[in-house]
Amino acid sequence: MKRVAILISGGGSNMLALLDSMEDAGHPAEPCLVASNDPEAPGLAKAAARGVPTAGLDHRPFGKDRAAFEAELHKIIESHGADMICLAGFMRVLTAGFVSGWSGRMLNIHPSLLPKYRGLHTHARALEAGDAEHGCTVHEVTPELDDGPILGQARVPVEPGDTPDTLAARVLTMEHKLYPAVLRRFAAGDRRPVWLP
Ligand code: GRF
Repeated sequence: MKRVAILISGGGSNMLALLDSMEDAGHPAEPCLVASNDPEAPGLAKAAARGVPTAGLDHRPFGKDRAAFEAELHKIIESHGADMICLAGFMRVLTAGFVSGWSGRMLNIHPSLLPKYRGLHTHARALEAGDAEHGCTVHEVTPELDDGPILGQARVPVEPGDTPDTLAARVLTMEHKLYPAVLRRFAAGDRRPVWLP
């Protein structure tokens, strides 16, 4: 049984989808921690309400010392016995030092069809480019931002009149299907990618 730590920064809708999926009988993973760089992140209360251990580690007191923040974060994750990490709406860039400590054991979901649109504002960028389709990607985290081996993608059509918000909502619905499907395979040691629909 793989023990999963989920890192969030906000509402944690992807985190909730992962928690829901891990309640399925026979699932190869279980949640051991939900942690956030924002102690006020609404997702922490939602996780606690489901009986999952939580931790809020405010990154702001660490200032520019990313390594100190990440050393503390690593200790908290280790102390909960995590075998792997799922980043889910986690909005801090992690240094190569932290990432290399979890190499091959850390996943992220990004709201674009990587390698297109690494970084932020992906929905607006897809609309500006006039793309006919958009989507989300789950990938292994490597030191290069939004760049690791792709473990799954989900595609959605761009509709006439779409705004970044309407497109983001359509993508988010698919994120909640894709991430659980990828985690289930990954935790079982199956590296075949998941393509949706
Ligand atoms: C989503 O767009 C997700 O792709 C990105 O963060 C946003 C919020 O996710 N990683 P969540 O609702 O906090 O899971």
